[in-house]
Amino acid sequence: MLSNDELAKWDRESFFHPSTHLGQFARGEGTQRIVTGGEGCHITDRDGNRLLDGFAGLYCVNVGYGRAEIAEAIATQARELAYYHAYAGSGSEASITLAKMVMDRAPEGMARVYFGLSGSDANETNVKLVWYYNNIRGLPQKKKIISRWRGYHGSGLMTGSLTGLELFHRKFDLPLAQVIHTEAPYYFRRKDAGMTEEQFSAHCAEELEKLIAAEGADSIAAFIGEPVLGTGGIVPPPKGYWEAIQKVLARHDILLIADEVVTGFGRLGSMFGSDHYGLKPDLITCAKGLTSAYAPLSATIVGNRIWEVLMQGTDENGVFGHGWTYSAHPIGAAAGVANLKLIDDLGLVGNAGSVGAYLNERMRAALGDHPNVGEVRGEGMLCAVELVKDREGRAFFDAGEGIGGKVAAAMLRRGVIARAMPQGDIIGFAPPLCLTPGEADTIVAATTEAVGEVLGTG
Ligand SMILES: Cc1ncc(COP(=O)(O)O)c(C=O)c1O
Repeated sequence: MLSNDELAKWDRESFFHPSTHLGQFARGEGTQRIVTGGEGCHITDRDGNRLLDGFAGLYCVNVGYGRAEIAEAIATQARELAYYHAYAGSGSEASITLAKMVMDRAPEGMARVYFGLSGSDANETNVKLVWYYNNIRGLPQKKKIISRWRGYHGSGLMTGSLTGLELFHRKFDLPLAQVIHTEAPYYFRRKDAGMTEEQFSAHCAEELEKLIAAEGADSIAAFIGEPVLGTGGIVPPPKGYWEAIQKVLARHDILLIADEVVTGFGRLGSMFGSDHYGLKPDLITCAKGLTSAYAPLSATIVGNRIWEVLMQGTDENGVFGHGWTYSAHPIGAAAGVANLKLIDDLGLVGNAGSVGAYLNERMRAALGDHPNVGEVRGEGMLCAVELVKDREGRAFFDAGEGIGGKVAAAMLRRGVIARAMPQGDIIGFAPPLCLTPGEADTIVAATTEAVGEVLGTG
């Protein structure tokens, strides 16, 4: 086995890490974590630390670490058939079974599922499907996609454009021209403090209406949104938001893409966020929870009205010219089948609802009155603590102070991983869905102590 020092050196010298400060990392500064194992809600690193992973990797290890059932399904698949493609009607038992399992769980009105590898590529697929759909319908001008500020939809060219976070645009010449952004459904950060949640939802719908009027409804194809804003701050929608938005979309023949990469397969305590909030999407994006990240796999679930037009399109134009070598990869599919079965067998959707509610309630009780906590919010197994300079005036800290990062670092010293969300001083939690109440208590205690260390106990 390599010594830690040697591995650490190779890492600094050879590895281009995603979403990392490259200069600092190369100079030997900043976090370097070499992870060696995981079990349940914990990971272990090479330095012998055992950490409670309050973010399930990148909110993806939903069934927890070290599940032998999934590891064995992957090994069996690799031995029997590591790969065959899915082009031209080919498939494997695993990919067909997974397709059936996804459709059995999908919200009403869905017709088929297409498998890719990542949330980003699934959203690229969505945009192509939407464009193809409108071309076949004879509406070639209807192509723009509306996304929300603070939405996160990936970091490809199109999906990085859909993402409404400045960090993912800066110096990359994004967003692309076909993407436009509208107001984030972020009640805590509303401009007019006097608005109720319902009034704020109506305001978001009005802003959307104005944007559509300014651009021309005949130029707009689709609206994409996460049921709960994720990377933008873990923000559940204000009351009445999705109802108000869907009315506007229906009025202007604009498709709805529900990006359920985080919320799909149980995180909110419902199988899908669309069911949780009453969305009627035309396309649903899934990844993360589909395999609990035991292997890379994503899914685009296609609704009936798009599917009918896609079939018409191939009758008129021939084969559907879209696919990846690794679409529906048998190993990913085998992981997905075992994962969805485990979610059912262990009752993890229900656990996400009940232990998630407990986590949120305990966090609110512990920190809800702290003078530097603007809001504790969450839904299901998602929770966020938003730190502010002044609670009454809703004044935020300067980004340069790095308060969120300091609190996350103080938590790490207490053996708990939280995520300092990229825009604002927001401490995010998205633990595995198998979290126990005792582990939730540990997360809350570490957060309370870390906030106390960085900002005082109030
Ligand atoms: C809502 C949402 N959509 C899309 C993505 C992109 O997924 P991936 O990183 O697998 O490309 C993410 C990743 O965090 C996400 O949270």
